[in-house]
Amino acid sequence: MRVNLEEAIALLKQGQNVAVPTETVYGLAGDARNAAAIAQIYAIKQRPANNPLIVHLADSHQVLDWASEFSPLAQKLADAFWPGPLTLVLPAKETVLPEVRAGEPTVALRVPAHPLMQAVLQKSGLALAAPSANQYTQLSPTTAAHVAQGLGDSVAVLDGGACDVGIESTIVYVDSNAWSLLRLGMISESQIANVAGCAQTKREENPVPKAPGQHLLHYSPSTPIRLFSSKKALIDYAEEQPNVALLLIGESTVSKSQTFTLSVVPKEAAAHLYDQLHQMDALGVEELLIEFPPESADWSAIRDRLQRAAHA
Ligand code: TXA
Ligand code: MG
Repeated sequence: MRVNLEEAIALLKQGQNVAVPTETVYGLAGDARNAAAIAQIYAIKQRPANNPLIVHLADSHQVLDWASEFSPLAQKLADAFWPGPLTLVLPAKETVLPEVRAGEPTVALRVPAHPLMQAVLQKSGLALAAPSANQYTQLSPTTAAHVAQGLGDSVAVLDGGACDVGIESTIVYVDSNAWSLLRLGMISESQIANVAGCAQTKREENPVPKAPGQHLLHYSPSTPIRLFSSKKALIDYAEEQPNVALLLIGESTVSKSQTFTLSVVPKEAAAHLYDQLHQMDALGVEELLIEFPPESADWSAIRDRLQRAAHA
């Protein structure tokens, strides 16, 4: 069910959930101070209770309402990348609902850039807990139509168009003056290291909290995926298969029907990746054959999502 901005705000204030646009993916939002609203998010997504939620804030002035410490390093990262596709995991204040942080001593915070999401946050005055608006383990939605396909039409959706970043935020754990990547995203490790002025602390050197949702089966269409590191091997395999769809990087001359293409520019490829996968999944074919991106750093977040989607 589509709702407008005023309706979305009214529902959120009443403790209801609304799917909202962000620049990364659509989130299923609820008032982060309302335990019933949070319980409903877990129920709609069928998400296990040990997988914490990201709290979305209008601006970084609200960080200390949620985190017990906003270290100079965390502030530098916030100044550089907020509003935007970066989530910071910081020590939580005790007042943060345990349901939001799934009992962890930390809380994940993000200031999103999408103008409509900013309007919701600013006009409502709420902080919004919002995981991606899909069923647990499934592909994240990057349009309002994907949300309705995945969660059903009874979920209220605020339509903000297609998401420009297209994959979920980069998650960084900050422990005073050290940091570690918990989830890859389109803000890269080297961009973070440049702003931080130091490399990440490797997990082996200093145990960091795992992002509990980062197990391998994730971001998955329902059709099985087969990844190919060579375009030629993919095309040869496809010749023998009557009922498959192909996803190739860059234009190609393959005459096979059901061929989709991703841009050779990683940022553009990310923006369209989930929409392509949603469309391919809807075809009802037996397998999705996907060209695996090159091993360079600028494709790392996309490689990560495809590996998880393929359970590789
Ligand atoms: O781009 C995004 O991050 C989107 C939009 C809606 O903001 N949200 C999103 O949420 O991807 P979700 O719930 O699908 O993924 C959040 C990830 C999960 O893997 C969760 O385990 C991790 O963040 N996370 C949340 N709180 C955490 C915490 N306190 N410590 C470690 N990981 C945390
Ligand atoms: Mg998710």
